[in-house]
Amino acid sequence: MSALSERPTDPVVGRAVPHESAALHVTGEALYTDDLVLRTKDVLHAHPVQVLHAHARVTALHTEAALQVPGVVRVLTAADVPGVNDAGVKHDEPLFPDEVMFYGHAVCWVLGDSLEAARLGAAAIQAEVEPLPSLVSVREAIDAGSFQGGQPTVERGDVEAGLAGAAHVFSGEFEFAGQEHFYLETHCALAHVDEGGQVFVQSSTQHPSETQEIVAHVLGLSNSEVTVQCLRMGGGFGGKEMQPHGLAAIAALGAKLTGRPVRLRLNRTQDMTMTGKRHGFHARWRVGFDAAGRLQALDATLTSDGGWSLDLSEPVLARALCHIDNAYWIPDVRVNGRIAKTNKTSQTAFRGFGGPQGMLVIEDILGRCAPLLGQDAATLRRRNLYSAGQTTPYGQPVRHPERLATAWQQVLDTSDFAARTEEIAAFNDAHGDTKRGLAITPVKFGVSFNFTAFNQAGALVHVYKDGSVLVNHGGTEMGQGLHTKMLQVAATTLGVPLHRVRLAPTRTDKVPNTSATAASSGADLNGGAIKNACEQIRERLAQVAAERLGVPPVDVRFGDGRVRGISFASEPVPWEEIVQLAYFQRVQLWAAGYYRTEGLHWDSTLMRGEPFKYFSYGVAASEVEVDGFTGAYRVRRVDIVHDVGDSLSPLLDLGQIEGGFVQGAGWLTLEELRWDESDGITRGRLASSAASTYKLPSFSEMPEVFNVTLLTNATEEGAVYGSKAVGEPPLMLAFSVREALRQAAAAFGPVGVSVDLASPATPEAVFWAIEQARCPEHGHVEEGAPGVEPEQPDADAPLMEPYSERVQHQLTQT
Ligand code: MTE
Ligand code: MOS
Repeated sequence: MSALSERPTDPVVGRAVPHESAALHVTGEALYTDDLVLRTKDVLHAHPVQVLHAHARVTALHTEAALQVPGVVRVLTAADVPGVNDAGVKHDEPLFPDEVMFYGHAVCWVLGDSLEAARLGAAAIQAEVEPLPSLVSVREAIDAGSFQGGQPTVERGDVEAGLAGAAHVFSGEFEFAGQEHFYLETHCALAHVDEGGQVFVQSSTQHPSETQEIVAHVLGLSNSEVTVQCLRMGGGFGGKEMQPHGLAAIAALGAKLTGRPVRLRLNRTQDMTMTGKRHGFHARWRVGFDAAGRLQALDATLTSDGGWSLDLSEPVLARALCHIDNAYWIPDVRVNGRIAKTNKTSQTAFRGFGGPQGMLVIEDILGRCAPLLGQDAATLRRRNLYSAGQTTPYGQPVRHPERLATAWQQVLDTSDFAARTEEIAAFNDAHGDTKRGLAITPVKFGVSFNFTAFNQAGALVHVYKDGSVLVNHGGTEMGQGLHTKMLQVAATTLGVPLHRVRLAPTRTDKVPNTSATAASSGADLNGGAIKNACEQIRERLAQVAAERLGVPPVDVRFGDGRVRGISFASEPVPWEEIVQLAYFQRVQLWAAGYYRTEGLHWDSTLMRGEPFKYFSYGVAASEVEVDGFTGAYRVRRVDIVHDVGDSLSPLLDLGQIEGGFVQGAGWLTLEELRWDESDGITRGRLASSAASTYKLPSFSEMPEVFNVTLLTNATEEGAVYGSKAVGEPPLMLAFSVREALRQAAAAFGPVGVSVDLASPATPEAVFWAIEQARCPEHGHVEEGAPGVEPEQPDADAPLMEPYSERVQHQLTQT
């Protein structure tokens, strides 16, 4: 066992403790950034001026009228920016644009004594614009050749030879939607400037260090003159990894220009119409199987819908390419990626960060091809799981693939899969208008940032003279329970009870140059740094204790608030006493800790290397029931076995698995971003921009039976106290729901029918899938020559076309 993963006896990690803020969350006492406004004097409120064109040049901006509105204090425009007029790290996101790039793009901001004054002021501003041609859908962008950023390829072997030698070759297309984060707390920032011109911004941000950098470059300051703090977020889900920066910069600019604190909080409609979402993708593919159904070759082109600027689209695409294999061995692979540039919000990180999109493509392929191969989907998937000695298409060995097999078998056993499959067949025979489906799908998700430099973290741990402990680290809390886990890590390493350790809000002046709390790596990275800081302190205290106990320092043990020698005869001394002694002996009682993930390498040009410390595994089986008249469905039962290594905090991990799964099911089956693709004046508008039109999972959509089990005997050598990341991987367990819906829809048709299912598989989409199953000749399955590139869809396709997908397939003769 490695020093990093080894646990002492009776550790505080591994205990099922509640979230450190659970009581505050449920009583409403927990403070979020916007709650600070009531505690701040003379606050100004910021309101955007959104221009309602998909694409237009701003020819004039008449701001004078706003200043006549009572309570309006100032209008912020490009002319006010002392530094760089840019909100991103790619320098393609003007903070005050002179070209409107999407419907609702903010061109300037109004500051008022009240939000209402600022709103009225914004309404008084006239923007003269010259409309420009726009590209709204990813297909329009592909046809127009509108792309941005790099176009990487992951390649292994000879894909053409692989396809040529395959017994069965299919090809198809698949377009699927993105997802709105719908964090309960919308974007928010509150900025102050002190007497020395130092800027302090409280921001709901997953990446305080980058928010700091952007604020500094907009204001023309050095990073050391800007401090960013994040108390906690009411959900981030990736939506606050890059998107908060420009908003924080507006607040900071306002504070600098007026000398008053400025608060910027988006309301829900503003948040949904102005900030980025999960990328929708378009995929074209050709796949080859051998006679037994083993994957032989995959050739695919993934085009993500990046929106108007790059934001995180390049790393999101890279992760999609690195996850198209999901849990399956594919000998010959070629996956090309490109990013469409469209007139939409700039799409961004969202739980899974492209991984779900890559994996959805292969799961869709397997779900569609299984009937054409004459196999049931569960058998086909199981047959293709990675086994020992195999590597991913980008060259990383798949360590512990046996965990996939173990989790798979455990789900089959505990969910009574075989018996229920038979029951469902009997049910479907007996019911003409209602059908059930049961599907099982795996997850393999790489943990670490693809970008190697981000895999580092820092911490600052103070032990005060009374023995109490204060921890700072670079990670942010967004509900995922990172802070709770970090308290458990500190308590474990120092050998003190959990209540002796307190956590301070995340601030850039405590721990500098931090990475985003993202890629699920928050606990791995910050836990490593905290453990390192605590070990430094413990080693110093061991010297002090050794003298006091009359044993060598290596024989000193810390645990449960007491310090003792290794022998049974040794009388324990209270932790507080050793701390006091150390202080009087002038021994440093605090330490800065640092951690970097070892063993990673990634060549982003060749798209090869070992970018991930390890893979997280999981398996889910879901059963659904579908109504043949409406396509409405319910999820009857879900069984999950998921690998979190040795859990740092089992209750939190359970919550992450349940929450991730439900969020994934929302993306795949309920939540529908509808962009106006018409040629009318509202072209480019997000039609589903409120909770009334954007259907989120709620209690009524929870599985009726929901069994989640953590995989046992799963110690991860390469991570803190043997744990694994949990934040994102469970989202992808929801593929099982989508595949169960496909199977239930297929049950309405003849045996062996291949069903295309749109994503999201809303009741409407499921209805069309049922229709296709009932009359396969009316579906989108057409014959085509083997190896022939699928056609582009024609422009006059029927109305249902956009919500469905097209496939061509050909079974080559052997
Ligand atoms: N859980 C809650 N409750 N709220 C969130 O915003 N974000 C997810 C996941 N779980 C999120 C969450 C995302 S996108 C990531 S990357 C991880 O948490 C980040 O935290 P971690 O690295 O500490 O797991
Ligand atoms: Mo998570 S999408 O990496 O913030």
